[in-house]
Amino acid sequence: EPSIPSLKDAFKKDFGIGTALNTAQIDERNPKTTEFIARQFNMATPENVMKSALLHPKWDTYTFEMGDKLIEFGKKHNIKINGHTLIWHSQLPAFVRGIHSQDSIRTFFTDHINTVAGHYKGKVFSWDVVNEALNEDGTLRKSVFLQHLGDNYVTEAFRLAQAASPNTELYYNDYNNEQPAKRAGCIALIKKVKEAGVRIDGVGIQGHWHVGRVPLKDIEESIVQYAALGLKVMFTELDLEVLPRNVQGADVGQRMASNATTNPYPNALPDSLQQQLATDYESLFKLFLKHKDKVTRVTFWGVNDGDSWLNNWPIRGRTSYPLLFDRNDQPKPAFYKVVALA
Ligand code: XIL
Repeated sequence: EPSIPSLKDAFKKDFGIGTALNTAQIDERNPKTTEFIARQFNMATPENVMKSALLHPKWDTYTFEMGDKLIEFGKKHNIKINGHTLIWHSQLPAFVRGIHSQDSIRTFFTDHINTVAGHYKGKVFSWDVVNEALNEDGTLRKSVFLQHLGDNYVTEAFRLAQAASPNTELYYNDYNNEQPAKRAGCIALIKKVKEAGVRIDGVGIQGHWHVGRVPLKDIEESIVQYAALGLKVMFTELDLEVLPRNVQGADVGQRMASNATTNPYPNALPDSLQQQLATDYESLFKLFLKHKDKVTRVTFWGVNDGDSWLNNWPIRGRTSYPLLFDRNDQPKPAFYKVVALA
């Protein structure tokens, strides 16, 4: 079997190459998978295990085992871990839903950041300190944190994270923050943190885009504008969904609203879509390389198509093909297009 080129090696001089990881993938009893991951990636983000719902199930109970395993895995395979995520309105512990006082939310917020960032101090390379705080129009999302703590909560989260884990890089992460209105809000938010004298090292653009409609111009403007603030720019959850437009409706909004469970491409992608996926990944990586002085990491949201969250979201039971490796870890045409650019 001819050996497959390595993404992390191909882009060694340019930027880090990451993947989301879940618990099953890092099980050392499956060396075929762990070796594959270690050969392709030098950075990783826990797909779920460091989210508050999983780490912090009760007021005074923290379950660090799964996260600790990931830290060990990273150490063993030279993979830097990006903690994901300290403060997010989603995947919150159930008990938080029962809290309705400002004092208790503040206690949760402070204890959670102190304890979790403290536990992983010196172990994670970076944290997504705050995730998805913005609305599409650039205003702050009306989360439980905004409602109870007011609009300084983002700055406060970074201040606490810095105190608990002083040598860790600290990032703000969001989706669609390459879109002009949301980007403007994101820039204002970053400036606010900096003006308070609080450190923020980078901004993550998630990169859940769609084949045939990757917003290259907005992405490039965003790289330039975020970097101008003195921040590292990262693509943190990259996947390109192949829109089954003909089957499930013409646009994303419609698709989200739809209850369709039809799986249009059960076994493989039609060739034309496979090629379009490859072309879109190629254009994206050309752009990343053009700005390699600003882009520090590109992380895929999953190792292979079988891992992808898009197999179940927003439509349960559908099959998705958004990554560079197929369900057997075999490189797709997109992989070869991307590697050829390096
Ligand atoms: C997703 C995971 O991939 C799923 O397994 C989970 O059920 C829901 O969350 N933005 C983020 C990620 O920041 O944490 C989300 O991950 C995808 C969207």
